[in-house]
Amino acid sequence: MLKKATVEVRLKDGSLIRIRNVKLEDLEQVYDIERASFKDPYPPDLLRTLALFHNDTFLVAVYGDKVVGYVIGAIRWDVIGHILNIAVHPDYRRRGIGSILMKEIMKRLKEKGARIYRLEVRVSNTPAQHLYERLGFRKAYVIKGYYNDGEDCYVMLKEEDEKT
Ligand SMILES: CC(C)(COP(=O)(O)OP(=O)(O)OC[C@H]1O[C@@H](n2cnc3c(N)ncnc32)[C@H](O)[C@@H]1OP(=O)(O)O)[C@@H](O)C(=O)NCCC(=O)NCCS
Repeated sequence: MLKKATVEVRLKDGSLIRIRNVKLEDLEQVYDIERASFKDPYPPDLLRTLALFHNDTFLVAVYGDKVVGYVIGAIRWDVIGHILNIAVHPDYRRRGIGSILMKEIMKRLKEKGARIYRLEVRVSNTPAQHLYERLGFRKAYVIKGYYNDGEDCYVMLKEEDEKT
């Protein structure tokens, strides 16, 4: 499949961020961000598999030549745009990069047929919940003990025709 062009976005502070499909050589930096961001990081093998088999919907945010964030999506049942994972390097948070990644992944998932977006988020992860609510997601229901450590998740949903 043809690769999408790199998207360039200027942040409020003037810095330029490029959003593009992941390359295998990005994965070491992706894994570093993953480990800095999650108690139960995706292992390198899983990141590699996702980069190979979901390359259209595995995006990285690049600042200069550094990977500073990423988002991974997938289409389920033809119409569900499932956001599997998103993280921004701790030194680059609160600059709008997470929002840009979310908007771009929803655009790419829409092109692949998504009519509704879904994600799971720890009930304790209020920063991420704020981000998703600002983008029009709503908490739909709780899944008890969803995570390995027993924490519950909220399933959050957003319909395609809602405003972002
Ligand atoms: C969640 C995450 C991706 C957000 O990335 P980000 O680049 O900081 O997000 P943005 O700068 O686009 O933030 C957009 C809005 O989200 C909300 N938000 C983000 N971080 C927040 C925080 N720490 N506390 C409260 N609200 C927060 C705010 O409303 C923010 O807008 P504002 O800065 O104008 O107030 C980032 O915090 C992260 O990587 N967290 C660890 C990994 C993680 O939890 N991923 C989600 C798994 S479900």
